[in-house]
Amino acid sequence: MIRDQLLDAFGKAKRVFVFTGAGAIKESGLPTFRDLDGEWRKYDPMTFATMEGFVRDPVAVWNMYRMRQKQIAQAEPNPGHVTLSRFDHHYPDFLLTTQNVDDLHERAGSRRIVKIHGNAWEMRCLDTGEVFDVRDFDLPDEFTVNTLPRCPRCGTICRPNIVWFGEYVPQDLMMASMNAAATCDLMLVVGTSGEVSNGYGFAEYALANGAKIVEINPREGALTHYAHFWIPEPAGVALPRIWRLLTGEDISYQLSENES
Ligand code: OAD
Repeated sequence: MIRDQLLDAFGKAKRVFVFTGAGAIKESGLPTFRDLDGEWRKYDPMTFATMEGFVRDPVAVWNMYRMRQKQIAQAEPNPGHVTLSRFDHHYPDFLLTTQNVDDLHERAGSRRIVKIHGNAWEMRCLDTGEVFDVRDFDLPDEFTVNTLPRCPRCGTICRPNIVWFGEYVPQDLMMASMNAAATCDLMLVVGTSGEVSNGYGFAEYALANGAKIVEINPREGALTHYAHFWIPEPAGVALPRIWRLLTGEDISYQLSENES
């Protein structure tokens, strides 16, 4: 039976690699990018997610990220995030590579994380490349040309520390992710369309190592054809169910208990 095979893959796995995208934050009330209600339907990525767009209108770009920071601060990790952090503590060899720039995986308790698209809470000096946490500074809710965030050391304007279109993922983060994919025996693909850089080839690396691939996404995407198991459900539903079947622990129940 497929369910037994799926649980067998989780039960036998020793080295687990997880690749997440914006679908993982959907149930926390944050938007994806390419769905009908996604960010790239509202914001032109050429303006808001390229260096050229930033140079043309840094105020508009910073204000979009400032609004995003507020949304992230108000959002809470969902049961999908909590389950992934349980996996982090359960499997001795584990890495979660996320394309998400929020901190919900960390706030759910995940420890071994690689953020390949940057961090919405960070700004980077355009001159020196030094990175700062925006929360360490008294920044306005809305920027003007005169109040754009500046490097505290040299005064140069800072940009959001996000990997934009046409830019490379830092090499050390890419290597760590590729190594984890190439040596895992179970790969989970959660909530990504897989459209950016074709999922970075992580699924191919995992397959080459003989890993089982499990995808959780209500819709088919660019990586679905690699998956041995595709669970067409929201992450916050499917992941806690897998965990409950494996361990008996009910994560969604615990969350609502804590919240009440
Ligand atoms: P996309 O918006 O491309 O894809 C989101 C995926 O999440 C889609 O495949 C949805 O079907 C799926 N989804 C929606 N709700 C879900 C749920 N509750 N549970 C599971 N899956 C769900 O977002 P990403 O693949 O993350 O880059 O996009 C990759 C990158 O493109 C982003 O990191 C962003 C964007 O340009 C930057 O901003 C640097």
